[in-house]
Amino acid sequence: MEILTLLTEFAKETLEGLTASQKYLSSKYFYDTNGSRIFQNIMQMPEYYLTNCELEIFETEKQRIFEALTENSTQYNLIELGAGDGLKTKVLLSHFHDQNAFFEYTPIDISEDAVKNLVLNLKQEVPGIKINGKVGDYFRLIEEINQYDHTKKILLFLGSNIGNYNENETLSFLNKLKSVMHSGYLLFIGFDLKKDPEIILKAYNDPHGHTSAFNLNLLQRINNELNANFILHKFRHQEVYNPQSGTAKSMLISLEKQEVEIHDLNKTVSFEKGESIFMEMSQKYDMKMIMDLANKSGFKIVRNFYDKRQYFVNSLWKLK
Ligand code: AVJ
Repeated sequence: MEILTLLTEFAKETLEGLTASQKYLSSKYFYDTNGSRIFQNIMQMPEYYLTNCELEIFETEKQRIFEALTENSTQYNLIELGAGDGLKTKVLLSHFHDQNAFFEYTPIDISEDAVKNLVLNLKQEVPGIKINGKVGDYFRLIEEINQYDHTKKILLFLGSNIGNYNENETLSFLNKLKSVMHSGYLLFIGFDLKKDPEIILKAYNDPHGHTSAFNLNLLQRINNELNANFILHKFRHQEVYNPQSGTAKSMLISLEKQEVEIHDLNKTVSFEKGESIFMEMSQKYDMKMIMDLANKSGFKIVRNFYDKRQYFVNSLWKLK
């Protein structure tokens, strides 16, 4: 047990996941430098419709989104959780800026690189915008901001990032958000909607191999950071979608019976031929599920914004 206290979060979670009876790894570790680059490739491919849908919503609805989010208040702080490259948010920011609104934009991400690049890029492309990037834990940072900034906060959780959480995690995430939200604060969430399963499968099982590379990169990260010897081509990416529950899951399948040494964890992990590692969850919703979720977690839906095919929804919530 002694050794556990010396391990990083990443090491601890990797050990836990690879010694569980159903092996798993956490998709939050996908985003190292290489993984973030691969995710950029994913977002640019036509099969990954999510990005374009949300962009379409922002472009066609930006004035109505502006009115609904700001409710005529002139001072507010837009706090984006998991901002990533902020490409889509830029559409909203520059529109809000054009309305002569006096607001601040606070992108928060766990990746320092992502925040740095986003801040640099935005300062160039939307000059005059007040931007204050932060790296770290969402809830701790929001509480910190609440201490010195008493303006209204509009929390953005876009791009279907919420889909990475399972049901329990989603509820506990929303409860924690609720606890750092004061009256009048708003929450704007992007949900990917249920649709033809073929469309969903193509987004996560793409012909270019980007999604496969994205998943395999986490094994490479374990090799690099924990001194392991995963042989990447002995695993294959597999996507499974259940249209009834709306759950898309990414897995890696071991192509043979094999053993992997993870030197820094002092651990040998055995795989059966055909055994899976559960890698990522990408939950798809219908409107009934979204209404139930808001209701259960103590929020009220103010307004929903859809793309024209209704593949995606940006849902604006307030405290009940
Ligand atoms: C960043 C969580 C929204 O689940 O759709 C894309 C990540 N994984 N392709 C998603 C992802 C594989 C993505 N999110």
